[in-house]
Amino acid sequence: MNIFFRKKLLEWNKNSNKRDMPWKGEKDPYKIWLSEIILQQTRVEQGWNYYLKFIEHFSTITQLAKAPETKVFKLWEGLGYYSRCRNLIATAKIIDTGYGGKFPTDYDNILALKGIGPYTAAAIASFAFNLPYAVVDGNVQRIIARFFGIDIPADTTKGKQVFNQLAFDLLDKKNPGLYNQAIMDFGATVCKPQAPLCNECPLAGKCIALKEKKVGLLPVKEKKILKKNRWFYYLVLHFGGKLYVRQRLEKDIWQHLHEFYLLESNKPLTIEALKKTAALKFIFGQKQSVILSVSKEYKQQLTHQTLHGMFIEVQLSKPPVLGAAFKAVTYRTLEHLAFPKFIITYLREKNVNLSQ
Ligand code: ADE
Repeated sequence: MNIFFRKKLLEWNKNSNKRDMPWKGEKDPYKIWLSEIILQQTRVEQGWNYYLKFIEHFSTITQLAKAPETKVFKLWEGLGYYSRCRNLIATAKIIDTGYGGKFPTDYDNILALKGIGPYTAAAIASFAFNLPYAVVDGNVQRIIARFFGIDIPADTTKGKQVFNQLAFDLLDKKNPGLYNQAIMDFGATVCKPQAPLCNECPLAGKCIALKEKKVGLLPVKEKKILKKNRWFYYLVLHFGGKLYVRQRLEKDIWQHLHEFYLLESNKPLTIEALKKTAALKFIFGQKQSVILSVSKEYKQQLTHQTLHGMFIEVQLSKPPVLGAAFKAVTYRTLEHLAFPKFIITYLREKNVNLSQ
């Protein structure tokens, strides 16, 4: 089974894999690392441009390490999960100062870096240094679960052990980089989560899930992810031709990004209900404050939560008392600040000219 799998996969890769990506075949561990971190965030099509922009601005890890952080955050804008961007900067600095700007060349030292887990470490070790480490992510687990007909949940200790071992057994130890890229591409284009192309699959002859009509049932996940809903009401406060924004300091995925005055709720609220909330009395209590516009509801899907966002533009009759964290800025200044995805979408729809 294993030899058949490896041989068919590599043949498919050589003759039928049409996937073209800018980081494919790359040997520079810095660029591989960058592409993998970006691809943890987004789909290949969207990640493609971010990757090109990053390497255009910072062609070496030292350039990234020495760049002003606001510039790096600005390039990352729209990708979300800013903790990853902070890790990226922190790791670049460690490699620049601790390793003389050279990426570590062995798996354990790569894995020890901030923000690099077993998957990314295996990708870097195999692509850059041709070391025999198998990449194991949801794509690889799906291919293995289907081909071998494994119904052990992939997110259990036992499941992880079984999938990791099989992934390593299948790996072409002579060409681990080529093999790893092939299995990633195969999972993305043939053995896809939905509507896999079993009719043209080179592994179909020995695929147990196909034989037992279980392709749609595998892999099995034990935990169903419970999604939390959050409603964000942003008040876009205008006074004297300026808008009020602050930098978010909470240690969450939006740390360091900018935002408007925010009221968060665990349920949807009407404008009337918002006006009555104690937190907003100071705004709507102003006799002459005027609601200029109420946006549609924006939605953003994260792994474990669904975010709903609305923007309410208010013209104030006197400056609001918001605390020192808030700054009054012009529309032009907004161009230079990094915002969460929600706010970027909103501002773009309002035709505010944001760079990129
Ligand atoms: N997803 C994560 N890493 C990838 C890579 N190197 N190629 C394609 N898809 C990926």
